[in-house]
Amino acid sequence: MNPFMYGKIVTGKHFFDRVDELKRILDTLEGGNNLVLYAPRRYGKSSLVKRAFEELEKKGFTTVYIDFMSIYSREVFIKNFSNAIVEKKSSSIEKTVKKVAKLIRGIVPSVLFDNVGNPQFSFSWIEGNDKEATLEDIINLPEKFATSNNKWIIAFDEFQEITKLNGESFEKLLRSLIQHHKNVSYIFLGSRTHLLKDMFSNKNRAFYNSALLMNIGAINISDSTEYLIKRFALDKIEISNEVAEYLIKRVDSIPYYIQFIAAEVWQQVINYDMHVKKINVDEAIKSVVELKADYY
Ligand SMILES: Nc1ncnc2c1ncn2[C@@H]1O[C@H](COP(=O)(O)OP(=O)(O)OP(=O)(O)O)[C@@H](O)[C@H]1O
Ligand SMILES: [Mg+2]
Repeated sequence: MNPFMYGKIVTGKHFFDRVDELKRILDTLEGGNNLVLYAPRRYGKSSLVKRAFEELEKKGFTTVYIDFMSIYSREVFIKNFSNAIVEKKSSSIEKTVKKVAKLIRGIVPSVLFDNVGNPQFSFSWIEGNDKEATLEDIINLPEKFATSNNKWIIAFDEFQEITKLNGESFEKLLRSLIQHHKNVSYIFLGSRTHLLKDMFSNKNRAFYNSALLMNIGAINISDSTEYLIKRFALDKIEISNEVAEYLIKRVDSIPYYIQFIAAEVWQQVINYDMHVKKINVDEAIKSVVELKADYY
């Protein structure tokens, strides 16, 4: 199997480097502060946060991750966010559902069983009820569950997309509620950097100055080189320091493209030459560019 992975959130042995960034994220969130993490597409934001969450879970925090990219309405937000929260409660789902029923106005929660018999959280709307009230209760739900011994950390990925949901009112509501949360910290991520930065540094916006801004850049060259050499070596493929560096520089050290091109190179040499040369890198880049040109 190809040891390189691209296009998905990477964890475990696929993840490398980002040691300093990881520390900064952990320190900020553990200290109870909020953080904004921005970088262009494919730099590895989502993977980095998943990585940070693994560490935080080990330290007794409860972490919840949701992606605003797929949230196109307030109803979908309510559904996705409540699901993500309920999934995180370690007590039985029936117990959790009872609690949720008390804490959230406007819905009737229930337990459904999926086709393999696993219990799942579900709910129906109470006719004619105010969805604004439901939204408020859902936003406050993490603070209801969190305690000083079990703090919660919430990641809102592609957070700039929140403006799709009825303009500024949702943004204002969210900010006005979460500023009172004592045992919950938030990390906001996004790839549309100017939009996201504006949300937190423009005086007229609800989230003005409410979180520390942090940017991640391309990945460290020597760490990436070491990673490539190691990963190829697992399949007894040789790549010199020089060629590994060449690959990384050709793609401007962007994590996604390092993995993408390395996967392509691996394909070329496995069961064949077992030795990576510059020409393999050039060919991989060329074939990827051609492949993409077919699409667009
Ligand atoms: N630390 C890392 N170690 C190894 N590969 C990485 C790392 N970070 C990112 N990648 C590579 O980049 C790809 C994209 O990572 P990820 O989805 O985390 O980035 P993103 O910034 O959230 O991207 P998007 O803007 O598309 O949401 C991954 O599939 C992986 O191939
Ligand atoms: Mg992402």
